[in-house]
Amino acid sequence: MIGIFDSGVGGMTVARAIEQLCPQYPLLYFGDIARTPYGSKSPETIIGYSRNNTDFLLEQGAELIVIACNSASSTASDALRSHYQAPILDVITPATTRAAEVTANGRIGVIGTRATIKSGIYPQKIQEARSGTRVFSAACPLLVPLVEEGWGSRRETKMILRRYLHPLRLKQIDTLVLGCTHYPLLKHMIGPRIGKRVKLIDSSVEMAVHVRNFLDQNEQLRQQLLKTTGAENRFFVSDSTDAVQITAAKIFGRPIKLEKINV
Ligand code: DGL
Repeated sequence: MIGIFDSGVGGMTVARAIEQLCPQYPLLYFGDIARTPYGSKSPETIIGYSRNNTDFLLEQGAELIVIACNSASSTASDALRSHYQAPILDVITPATTRAAEVTANGRIGVIGTRATIKSGIYPQKIQEARSGTRVFSAACPLLVPLVEEGWGSRRETKMILRRYLHPLRLKQIDTLVLGCTHYPLLKHMIGPRIGKRVKLIDSSVEMAVHVRNFLDQNEQLRQQLLKTTGAENRFFVSDSTDAVQITAAKIFGRPIKLEKINV
């Protein structure tokens, strides 16, 4: 099975994209709701939590790990890769590759949590993928709580987005990477505020394409995963509230059964 983890419920945007593109591979999802947010925590803490989450998914039978969380991907993916044998895919690589491909003027914006932006991983990877690009980053710490409060379409959210995105508009970017699990849920608000000409890179969609391509190139693992085809996708959380249930149902377009575990 494919094991996916996130700091909370937002990573379900990645799980949903993988489910839609690769329905033949059953999923195990773990959302660390009890310890969210990761985006404001130290690298040591994020690495420790990411190891707990990976251990849990491997115990449940995961054979491939997808780090859906940008904050964990930017901080913990090297530590996880050096510690586990199972392949570990991070959500950042596919988005940076795509951004480098689609930009016409070589000016790319990135928005994410403080941990993600502070890690500097997005500019580094985008420049590795295409040298000479200019990357302009903005930490947007208020967006995750707004999504989780269900304020995704409110006037206040529009104002905050305008404030965050204005400096990137001035830089005349033509591509904007949504570098956080929650931001696909704000696409309808981000698009008009950053400007119609700016291409939005949704890391959940890019991750799903990356998982499919990765498995197409790893036949043995692909066959291994296909043995579980037909098994039900399972969604584990370390805490559950009404707001989490609502966000999960919104992401999948159907009610999601959440299984609570202790961390
Ligand atoms: N999942 C996190 C990310 O993609 C957002 C929420 C958090 O800060 O934990 O960065």
